Amino acid sequence: MIRSVGLSSNGHVDSAAPRRAGSEDAQAVADLLIRSRRAAVDAIPAAVHPDNEVREWIRAVVIPEREVWLMENAGSRPLAVLVLDDDWVDQLYVDPAFTGRGFGSRLIEFAKSRRPAGLQLWTFATNTGAQRFYLRHGFSVAEATDGSGNEEKAPDIRFVWTAPP
Ligand SMILES: CC(C)(COP(=O)(O)OP(=O)(O)OC[C@H]1O[C@@H](n2cnc3c(N)ncnc32)[C@H](O)[C@@H]1OP(=O)(O)O)[C@@H](O)C(=O)NCCC(=O)NCCS
Repeated sequence: MIRSVGLSSNGHVDSAAPRRAGSEDAQAVADLLIRSRRAAVDAIPAAVHPDNEVREWIRAVVIPEREVWLMENAGSRPLAVLVLDDDWVDQLYVDPAFTGRGFGSRLIEFAKSRRPAGLQLWTFATNTGAQRFYLRHGFSVAEATDGSGNEEKAPDIRFVWTAPP
């Protein structure tokens, strides 16, 4: 078992707080997004954009204009990334070798603390694992589409979360 900051001795996430990413993290964030999305190929349609365009988008748009939060190992390698854009969870990706250990839960609860008024997000209809995850974290389905509005042209579902009164 890899012992790292963010992981307890039983391999689950510990109390380490997410860290805000800066421009120096752009390459590592892009690596993580590309690797995680590729590993989820059965659940998430293949990316429309080639890797170099994804990298440029992370560097020029995502890091400077959105809120990017990381959980990382002792070597400062990101293991999970959360991107917030207004009330949208724009991206939530965990390193494929570290899924199912609580990183996603930690980051989605952190997102709620950053946006107490509420959150929304899109997930692909094929991504049933992520849907289970969001339902468990108090999100509910707001709408389902035929995918004509997204780049992948794949049916997707919008989930919303509002704080309990
Ligand atoms: C979905 C995801 C963010 C959850 O984070 P996580 O750290 O793995 O999740 P946690 O350990 O906090 O919680 C476990 C739950 O997450 C979901 N999950 C776990 N591994 C997953 C995977 N490889 N793909 C999709 N969902 C997964 C399941 O609902 C799981 O619950 P289960 O044990 O009942 O199946 C993460 O698995 C991931 O990055 N998956 C691939 C990319 C993705 O689907 N991102 C969301 C796009 S909307």
